[in-house]
Amino acid sequence: MRDARSSIDGVLAEWCDRVQRELPDEIGAAIAYSLGASGKRLRPALVLGVFSELGGAGDATELAAALEVIHTYSLVHDDLPCMDDDDLRRGRPTTHRRFGIAAATEAGFRMVPLAARVLTAGATRLGLSSGTLAAMGREVFQAAGASGMIGGQVLDLEAEGQRLDASAVGEIHRKKTGALITASAVVGALAAGAPPVRVEAVRDFGREIGFAFQVVDDVLDATATSQELGKTAGKDARQHKATFATVYGNEAALAQARASTRNAVDHLAVVGIHSSLLAGLANFVVSRRS
Ligand code: IPE
Ligand code: IPE
Ligand code: MG
Ligand code: MG
Ligand code: MG
Repeated sequence: MRDARSSIDGVLAEWCDRVQRELPDEIGAAIAYSLGASGKRLRPALVLGVFSELGGAGDATELAAALEVIHTYSLVHDDLPCMDDDDLRRGRPTTHRRFGIAAATEAGFRMVPLAARVLTAGATRLGLSSGTLAAMGREVFQAAGASGMIGGQVLDLEAEGQRLDASAVGEIHRKKTGALITASAVVGALAAGAPPVRVEAVRDFGREIGFAFQVVDDVLDATATSQELGKTAGKDARQHKATFATVYGNEAALAQARASTRNAVDHLAVVGIHSSLLAGLANFVVSRRS
């Protein structure tokens, strides 16, 4: 992840320069501010990890960066007053706190076509076919849309103050967070030219760790400090969010997340993928403290 982080940060910085030349001052600056903040870069690390472990050749950094652009847009909008109304993100004031609501909203929307450009540039750099690019585009933008991340975010807001059962909370988690993490893993497999049976095993892997990731996010919200997280701790309870921590309690929620990551690795093993790197990424999802 450390290696991925530094190469991804480099590619994102180049795109931020380009964007700041193209866009009005405020909007370009808001995009650069949000992309330049230090995130874990888990989604691009997954793209790169799956790509290399499935035999991909060449530099997939720019392709991987596309997933971080979509993810960062989702954070900018997630923090807006009309959504989670957050002040702190990645250890700094949220984008709307720094640039205002209108600029942050526009910056978020503009990151969607930006992600498409980065994805296309990344595919070109790898010499991938237009068919592979189309398949990757479908994965990413379906995962980001109404049947994935946006749909999950809508359900998340509607669930505030409601008592949901585990399957309803699970649906929120799989959509709002799991979908894009799954797409990250699948993009890595598609770019590596993996056969369909392996792509589908990677999809199952991504689905399990994506779900676990949001369960752990919920538990950390309830148990870690704002300083550790770089975002406001304890907000889910204050906003009466439907989370796994509230449905099961922290310990049982964590046990479920751990079980999901074990399933994730098993899905790979079934098709003969034995990767300590991917097992390590799965383990990071449940052992992280931020
Ligand atoms: C936070 O994602 C939002 C969720 C989907 C849970 P991350 O925990 O990956 O945030 P960064 O990218 O490291 O800031
Ligand atoms: C966010 O879930 C999911 C997306 C951004 C799509 P949260 O609202 O729990 O994320 P944090 O805790 O603010 O990072
Ligand atoms: Mg939210
Ligand atoms: Mg939030
Ligand atoms: Mg959260």
